Amino acid sequence: MNALLSLIVVLVLGALAYVGGSVEGLRTLFGVIIPYAAILTFLVGVAYRVVRWALSPVPFRITTTCGQQKSLPWIKAGYLESPSTTLGVSLRMALEVLLFRSLFRNTKAELRSGPQLVYGENKYLWLAALAFHWSFLIIFLRHLRFFMQPVPAFVNLLSGVDGFFQIGAPVLYITDIVILVALAYLLWRRFRDPQVRYISLFTDYFALFLLIGLAGSGVLMRYFFRPDIVAIKELALGLVTFTPAVPVQVGGLFFVHLFLLSLLIAYFPFSKLMHFAGVFLSPTRNLANNNRAKRHVNPWDYPVKVHTYAEWEEEFHDKIKAAGLPMEKE
Ligand code: HEM
Repeated sequence: MNALLSLIVVLVLGALAYVGGSVEGLRTLFGVIIPYAAILTFLVGVAYRVVRWALSPVPFRITTTCGQQKSLPWIKAGYLESPSTTLGVSLRMALEVLLFRSLFRNTKAELRSGPQLVYGENKYLWLAALAFHWSFLIIFLRHLRFFMQPVPAFVNLLSGVDGFFQIGAPVLYITDIVILVALAYLLWRRFRDPQVRYISLFTDYFALFLLIGLAGSGVLMRYFFRPDIVAIKELALGLVTFTPAVPVQVGGLFFVHLFLLSLLIAYFPFSKLMHFAGVFLSPTRNLANNNRAKRHVNPWDYPVKVHTYAEWEEEFHDKIKAAGLPMEKE
């Protein structure tokens, strides 16, 4: 139900953009005003959330550890699994951000007949997540050719490598296939497994369908319904140089592409997609585990009135003695 609803919402929004792009009076709304509003929402929203996270007090080191903390020199420490230095933290973070290392270790619990609980590997999720994120990044970088004049050399190089196999005309980009296959797997995973399906919300499907719609409309434009690329570049350059104008040659499908992207951008700060910034601000990941080497004192500690055991024994001395109970101090 959640999946169907979010699919319908994305389809309706896409159709709205297609129609909007074809109506003269709405082209500026979909081509200029909505993209600008989306970017503004993204910048303000992300800044707000990051600042709020950054202001949260973290008095103690609560590092996630998968290895031995550094202590005595003759005990082998896990420098990456339980990093005690900033370099170790940076290395572990880099592996997490670039290769999704913790997701690689993701296991799956399954109840088999017996009954027997079995823990197995589940590398497909890691592979699909990695494939999706990396191809998204490469597509994003390749798109810089629309926003920059002259086009930087690295963008051309990247496009050349991505289209290395030179299949068809226009040349097929490997990342186009990879991103669609990865997104299809991520969606199918939510349908296939009853447990994952049970915890999947409208928003989980919404993000996936938005991304599929975005990549799908791009693929349609590149391989099936060729748009006027020169006019689109004119629009893109106009947007980034704050002299926006929507050329008449820009067609309906491009408005679908741009509108779905605007929705994704505007939706970002309110959604789970914020993990792109959250991973850096997570105290379980960005702190060195030096709890044995350094004493971390809660900065807003205040003197707490305590009642020690010794005081308690002193207070009830006669009663404890009368009951014949043992005491620390005779
Ligand atoms: C980060 C967000 C975006 C994603 C993930 C994305 C995705 C895609 C994909 C997968 C394609 C298929 C061909 C290719 O890979 O180059 C494509 C094509 C295209 N996209 Fe995007 N897109 C994004 C943003 C934009 C923006 C902001 C524009 C506005 C200029 C745009 C304009 C186009 C055009 C004109 C094509 C057709 C390219 C061609 O025919 O060579 N896209 N997009």
